[in-house]
Amino acid sequence: MRWSDIHAADSSVFTRKKITVVGAGNVGATAAFLAATQELANIVLIDVVEGIPQGKALDMRGSSPILRFDSSVTGTNDYADTANSDLVIITAGIARKPGMSRDDLLAINAGIVADVTRNIVKHSPDCIILVVTNPLDAMVYTALRVSGFPKHRVIGMAGVLDSARMRSFIADELEVSINNVTAFVLGGHGDTMVPLPRYSTVAGIPVTELISEQRMKEICERTADGGAEVVRYLKTGSAFYAPAASVVQMAEAIIRDNKRVLPCCAYLEGEYGMNGYYLGVPCKLGAGGLEAIIELDLTEDEQSGLLRSMEAVADLVKVIDELGLY
Ligand code: LAC
Repeated sequence: MRWSDIHAADSSVFTRKKITVVGAGNVGATAAFLAATQELANIVLIDVVEGIPQGKALDMRGSSPILRFDSSVTGTNDYADTANSDLVIITAGIARKPGMSRDDLLAINAGIVADVTRNIVKHSPDCIILVVTNPLDAMVYTALRVSGFPKHRVIGMAGVLDSARMRSFIADELEVSINNVTAFVLGGHGDTMVPLPRYSTVAGIPVTELISEQRMKEICERTADGGAEVVRYLKTGSAFYAPAASVVQMAEAIIRDNKRVLPCCAYLEGEYGMNGYYLGVPCKLGAGGLEAIIELDLTEDEQSGLLRSMEAVADLVKVIDELGLY
């Protein structure tokens, strides 16, 4: 075949999956970059600000010969370019400033997420949506309501991030490889999150056998404060490396149909005795999106921690329900 013929041939059968990342700020751009370097899909980076997604996409593409990835990276301000995405990651929103709680962001970011979701649904009616924007549990609820998608196609990222932070603290504490450490954090992505030392292990050994109760309590508190600790240092923004890596791990599980069990923010309909809210619980992620919610037997303390989380989320949802967004 001559080159001109090859070029003219229908290449659609060879096309990669397509991931759109909405928001070209620190989280969105880092997520786009990580997903591209892992060749998860061709990446479209979209933002309302002109030039930023285009410039960052071009810069990422420029790194591809060195980092050796063939994924394309396109920057745009036009949702038409996101058409037929398999997966959409929503990071758009205002980030926390020092002294600002995630909940302060509520009304501003609900409006942004609702607007983004409408555009996504219009151009990619079959996609799976992963939400990162804070306050997370309420934003993913907004995306579900606005999209009208089934719950298995609208999932929030929080537990992977919170668990990753907890894993890093445990690995540092015991001076062991991060690869040996698993940890589970359930509940809302906020001050009421529920780290579960009982389900956290080092090479299969429960951490409760390796770290004192008092020290573990401090690690759990540091985990819950993990986002705010970064904000206090950065002063002008919030964390992005770990949040981006976390959502890309979820994207990978879906794109590659990994069936990975990860703590995700899922819409509960009876699981854990809760109904009609998004909350962080163990989930199985695969090609179908959220393929299963795994129910664990919780102690009374853990269950009441989860309930406190749910009450905090319910307060936000009540406000969102009254914003008239759907
Ligand atoms: C964090 C913010 C992004 O946990 O929620 O870092």
